[in-house]
Amino acid sequence: MLSPSEINENQKKYMIKSWSTQGGYNPKVIVSAKGSYFTDSDGKDYLDFSSQLMCSNLGHSHPDIIEGIKKQTEKLCYVHAGFGTEPVAELSKLVAEITPGDLSKTFFSSSGCEANEAALKAARFYTGGHKIISRYRSYHGGTFGAVAITGDPRRWYTEPMQMPGVIFAPDAYCYRCPFSLKYPECGLQCAEYVDYMIEYEGGAQGKVAAVVTEPIVGSNGIIVPPDGYFKRLREICDKWGVLMIDDEVMAGFGRTGKWFAINHWDVVPDIMTMAKGITGAHIPLGATVLSKKIADHFDENLFCHGHTYVSHPLPCAAGVAAINAYKKHDVIENAAKMGKILGKRLMELKEDHKCVGDVRGKGVFWGVEPVKNRETKEPFARVHQKFQASTINKMLGEAMKKGVYIIHVINTIIVAPPCTTNEEEIEKGCDVLDEVLKIGDKEVK
Ligand SMILES: Cc1ncc(COP(=O)(O)O)c(C=O)c1O
Repeated sequence: MLSPSEINENQKKYMIKSWSTQGGYNPKVIVSAKGSYFTDSDGKDYLDFSSQLMCSNLGHSHPDIIEGIKKQTEKLCYVHAGFGTEPVAELSKLVAEITPGDLSKTFFSSSGCEANEAALKAARFYTGGHKIISRYRSYHGGTFGAVAITGDPRRWYTEPMQMPGVIFAPDAYCYRCPFSLKYPECGLQCAEYVDYMIEYEGGAQGKVAAVVTEPIVGSNGIIVPPDGYFKRLREICDKWGVLMIDDEVMAGFGRTGKWFAINHWDVVPDIMTMAKGITGAHIPLGATVLSKKIADHFDENLFCHGHTYVSHPLPCAAGVAAINAYKKHDVIENAAKMGKILGKRLMELKEDHKCVGDVRGKGVFWGVEPVKNRETKEPFARVHQKFQASTINKMLGEAMKKGVYIIHVINTIIVAPPCTTNEEEIEKGCDVLDEVLKIGDKEVK
């Protein structure tokens, strides 16, 4: 067995950490996790107030999922996707049942980026168009296609090699409206502009394959679109015969108090992608769900895509156990209920702290955006400073010392406890946030 210092040393010496210069890497060693808490090698417990990377929706080490994985390992760990297995059959049916409209056939992969890669190919194969409209404030994954449709700085580092044909639309971000307009007088310019883009990108000649959006933007700011945005986007897509791809990798599986965030606006996408919460992050799994018309297209046309681990029985068994756990333990209802309490408490923090510019979210998916000045909305970190430390790191470093893990991305603190959280945990996490926001208050001009 490795000692904590050996774990730390081995990882520093032999492992490459994602999205980082490697020099300062010094991992805290985590030895166990249960429910909303994880424990380090000194025995200190941390409240997980961001569900790791907004993925441990069912809390850590959920007994139902552990049991589901265990049982499957005893029967069968792997055969390739050409064969039929019980977990794959069960999970594909469950996914068809919980997704809206006629989303009905699923391609199973191993991650969110792979789910999006498959969605991009399916959209291009189906429409024959190649252009993809995404948005600036977005993240869709680290592989070449997924990062090409990513608006945030993680894309800049692979330019210009990644997938061509991607154009970025304005964000539906009312706090910092790209058109400097106010909802509802704005007439949803952020959606209307997509109509203009499609026209001038050759929509009439079928050049545009899809519009891809996160229903609530995740790591780029927990941005909730104004009501009517997705309905209008759906109309625009239908007008041009452009597909709507809904990336639910972070916002899906109860995170916003519904199975999928797009359900808040009763809009049915043509393709939905998911990962993270589909197994509560107990084991990697990604999924790309196609509507009937797209799925039917591939009855006669080649779906030219795949991986060794497509429809892997083990993660699919975890997916079955997870979906059953969401249902059996009323996890989604809990996320909606706890979300109201969490949202109220965060709004109070906004009242009490001058450094809080905006608070927004749904369910247990909230963003706290710090600013140095409420009038000018000057952020603590701008987009090009994504990989640099700011005062927000100081605040959240302090929270960690106080036993609460919360992450931020660029200028947004992401408050996203597991969907299984309770009032006591919300109080504890918000009390610590209340303390550490004082560090930000000192820098307010
Ligand atoms: C909205 C969204 N899409 C896709 C991804 C990529 O998922 P993965 O990291 O599993 O490849 C993420 C990851 O955070 C995400 O938030």
